[in-house]
Amino acid sequence: MIQVAILGFGTVGSGVAEVLTGHEELIRRRTGQPYGIKYILDVRDFPDSPFSSLLINDFSVIEEDPEIQVVVETIGGTGVAYDFTRRALSAGKNVVTSNKELVACHGYELLQLAKEHKVSYLFEASVGGGIPVIHPLSQCLTANEVTEITGILNGTTNYILTRMIGEGLSFEAALKEAQENGYAERDPSADIDGDDACRKICILAAVAFGRHVYPVQVPTDGITDVTLPDVDYADSAGKKIKLLGRCMKNQDGTVTAFVAPHLVDQSDPLASVTDVFNAIKIHGDAVGDVMFYGAGAGKLPTASAVVSDVIEAGENAGGKIQYDWEDGGDDVMTPPDELRSSWYVRSDGTAESVHTTFPDAGILARHGQPDDEVAFLTGPMTRSELENSLNGMECRSVFRVLD
Ligand code: HSE
Repeated sequence: MIQVAILGFGTVGSGVAEVLTGHEELIRRRTGQPYGIKYILDVRDFPDSPFSSLLINDFSVIEEDPEIQVVVETIGGTGVAYDFTRRALSAGKNVVTSNKELVACHGYELLQLAKEHKVSYLFEASVGGGIPVIHPLSQCLTANEVTEITGILNGTTNYILTRMIGEGLSFEAALKEAQENGYAERDPSADIDGDDACRKICILAAVAFGRHVYPVQVPTDGITDVTLPDVDYADSAGKKIKLLGRCMKNQDGTVTAFVAPHLVDQSDPLASVTDVFNAIKIHGDAVGDVMFYGAGAGKLPTASAVVSDVIEAGENAGGKIQYDWEDGGDDVMTPPDELRSSWYVRSDGTAESVHTTFPDAGILARHGQPDDEVAFLTGPMTRSELENSLNGMECRSVFRVLD
C-alpha cells in the first residue's frame, strides 16, 4: 500500500481525497498497487466529512511516519506550505503540489532538495488545473527547441472576461460567480491582478527553457483596466480580449516573459477558449504549434492532475529525476519592451488627430461611442515607439494585439 498524507483540506485537498478513494479500484487495477490516505492535515475540524477520522493538526506525525511515501501539499501560499514541503522532502518523502506560488517562488531550491534526498517534487496541477501540460512539455516535446509559450492561464479572469463579453455582465457580478464556483483564489486579487497567471508562466518558462524565472522578474498586468467599451471595440475588429501569459526564448538565449490583456483574433484558437477553461499554446521547432486545452481550475479537474502525480510518485521509489533546471537571475531576462506588436489604443481625440501621428492606424467604432473618444489599432512597434508616438494623447486603455 502506498500511503499518502494530504496537507490542507480545502477545495483541492478534499477533491484529492475524493478522487483517490473514489477511484481506488481503478488505480489499483492500473498500477498494480493500492493507494490509501493515512492522514489529512488541517487546522480546522470537519466533523461531518467522511474523512474526519483521518484529520490531524500536527505535521510532525506525518514527517516522522516511515509509512508515508507521498505528501500532497494543497495548502497554498509560501508560508507553512514552504516549511512543510522542505521538511517532507528532507524526511525522504515525495511531495506533490498544486501550489503554483510555491513552485514559482521556490521551485529551483525545492527541486534541489528533492534531488538531494532522492525523492520527487511534482507539480502538474500547478499550471492549467486539470490540463496535462507540464509532463507533455518536459517529456513529449523534449525533442524540440521550445521557443514560445502563450497561455490563457487563469480560469477566474477568463470566466470574468467571457461573462463581460457574452452577457455584458459587470466585472463584480462575474467575479462573484467565479468565487461561488470555487475557481478563484482565497484572495481573488491574485487572479484579477494577473499574479496567478504570472506564477504559472514562470513555471512553464522554467520547464521549457531550463532556468528559473521568478515572479518579480515578470511584468504583470491584470484585467482590472479592461472595460466594456474595450470589449466592444475589440469585437468590431473581429477580436476578443484575453489575459495572456507569454514567454519566449530570444536568440541571445535570454527569456522574455510577461502577463497582460491582449486582443486576440477570432481566427486564433485561443480566442475560442471561454469560461473557466485554460489553453496553453506551445511552439516547438520540430512540432510547430501544439495547444493543450481543458478545465483550468476547480476541485475535481485539479485533483485529477494531483492524483496522477501521486501515482507517478508512488511508482518512482528511488527518485528518478523528473524536473531539474538551473537557478535564475537578472542575466536571464529581457524585458518585453522591445517586443514589437500591434497595439490597441482607446483615447481622447478624433480619427483626424490619430492619423496625424499614426498614418497607418485602423480606426475602430462602437455603438454609443462618445464624440470625444477614439480607438484604433497601430502597426507593429515597440512599447517605447508607441509611447513616443502617443506623446500628449490622453489614453484610456492600451493593450497589445497578439500577432
Ligand atoms: N484561481 C485559479 C484560477 C485557480 O482561477 O485559474 C487555478 O489555479
